[in-house]
Amino acid sequence: MAISDISENALKVLEKRYQGKDEKGNVVESVEGMFRRVSDTIAKADTKFDNSVDTKKLSDEFFELMTSLRFMPNSPTLMNAGRQLGQLSACFVLPVEDSMEGIFDSVKNAALIHKSGGGTGFSFSRLRQSGASVRSTGGVASGPVSFMRVFNSATEAVKQGGTRRGANMGVLRIDHPDILDFINCKADNADITNFNISVGITEKFMEAVEKQSDYDLIDPKTKTAVGHLSAVKVFDMIVDHAWRNGEPGIIFLDRLNRDNVVPTQGDIESTNPCGEQPLLPYESCNLGSINLVKMLRKTLTGYEFDFRLLGATVEEAVHFLDNVIEVNNYPLDIIGDTTRATRKIGLGVMGWADALLLLGIPYNSDEAVDLAGKVMGYINNTGHAASARLAEKRGAFPLFSVSTYKDGPAMRNATVTTIAPTGTISMIAGCSSGVEPVFAYAYIRNIMDGTEMVEVNPVLVAKLKELGLYEDGLLKKIANAGSVENCLEIPEEVRRVFVSAQDIKPVDHIKMQSAFQRYTDNAVSKTVNFPKEATRNDVREAYLLAYEEDCKGVTIYRDGSREEQVLNIGKVN
Ligand code: CDP
Repeated sequence: MAISDISENALKVLEKRYQGKDEKGNVVESVEGMFRRVSDTIAKADTKFDNSVDTKKLSDEFFELMTSLRFMPNSPTLMNAGRQLGQLSACFVLPVEDSMEGIFDSVKNAALIHKSGGGTGFSFSRLRQSGASVRSTGGVASGPVSFMRVFNSATEAVKQGGTRRGANMGVLRIDHPDILDFINCKADNADITNFNISVGITEKFMEAVEKQSDYDLIDPKTKTAVGHLSAVKVFDMIVDHAWRNGEPGIIFLDRLNRDNVVPTQGDIESTNPCGEQPLLPYESCNLGSINLVKMLRKTLTGYEFDFRLLGATVEEAVHFLDNVIEVNNYPLDIIGDTTRATRKIGLGVMGWADALLLLGIPYNSDEAVDLAGKVMGYINNTGHAASARLAEKRGAFPLFSVSTYKDGPAMRNATVTTIAPTGTISMIAGCSSGVEPVFAYAYIRNIMDGTEMVEVNPVLVAKLKELGLYEDGLLKKIANAGSVENCLEIPEEVRRVFVSAQDIKPVDHIKMQSAFQRYTDNAVSKTVNFPKEATRNDVREAYLLAYEEDCKGVTIYRDGSREEQVLNIGKVN
């Protein structure tokens, strides 16, 4: 069976990180062999429910699903399925209890997860504030931020499955007494580098921002107020830090819990590292993404979405991801038990920006926002229907009868949809990542022997060829600018469609995030890009808009702000 359209870059990524190697590091597995290892392993899960199943045929179907580049599971599934490690999930959340045993158990568990290729999210909100008393020693507690540094160092020391360094998410509630320390803990870019941080915002806090009033800081042990701060001042401090270097992000905790399908199991306190997957403590989730470029069909005048193909792909993908839960080798028994109790999966999309280019629709247009809702609405509905059909054959998720779904049709999975960043799998599929706009249409890549290679977005290549404009000089010009906005050789109506992340206004980024969020069970991974000259007030307005638009969180990045920060630090020293 041939593997369609796989690019040279994709082959390099696969060889480096995914294909099997011997002890000397020689690649001993073909690309085809890698996908076959995955499809065979995932197909086997069906035998648990149906002993007459033709696993060879099912494996062929899953193999075709991936090698046609219609769908990719998250990296750990591609790397570890059918291998000794066998850990297939990208996302985990671990609790951090307020005791030495609890904290260091969590450090150890995170190390095990990182070793297996997963990322971990933690809420540090249960830890007592710095300066609080420690009864057993008579000393004082050092507080959440100092323990985050311990987690950070442990992560530094553990390389993920020999392939990638563990990513972490650290969350602290806005009403924790150490919140100011937390907001400030990544002000220096060189600090706590293995963490993304997010402030856990509550509705109560947002009301206080609106009323310009103070809000209470709550002692996590006694649950009583131990101080208060001006909500506006703290909000502005978050905005200021995000404006400086993109950290912290924010997540809206009450919204994550509004959509907590099993509130009897406790509160959702954190997400995974990139923010798209809220989880209960000890829960894990496996993700997979549909390549929307492959969901288009040619018409006489251009392209259109093929909703039948999309529906069939969703059905296969939900089946695939539910099987992953069965054959997954969990790093801890408690994670296996918690995960199997809700059976969350996270089906999302990638290649959205490339699909829009082919359709001739600018990313920053009402038409694109409407289409986002239509496509994701369709995926969410068909995904839920597919999960309900699986429940008829395999049974509902064990906590279904106490879940918020209990009065509706039985579901196999407590959540079905999540929009992941698809950082690596989009490279394998050769499409734009997640629901992000194209970051740069062309860039110059330095090859090891010193030669330079211009890499151009494949949809732009096709367009330039069609227009008879494909030549080296223009490609270099685009690569240097990163955008086609000022390339007047290209017709205006084409430039209007080929917008890049920096050409898109923050409000349009947020409208797109919100359109996808409306039809996504979990959350949406999205960065709102700002130009370098954006003001703090621009960032503030974007945060408030994300709140109004019912997003579950926001991550922003102002162009050049990380480099600028490094320079500033250099000057101070
Ligand atoms: O494309 P790929 O499947 O490799 O991953 P992604 O969609 O970019 O990221 C999905 C999730 O994988 C993240 O939110 C993290 O939970 C985890 N991840 C990680 O732990 N370490 C990384 N270096 C990248 C991703």
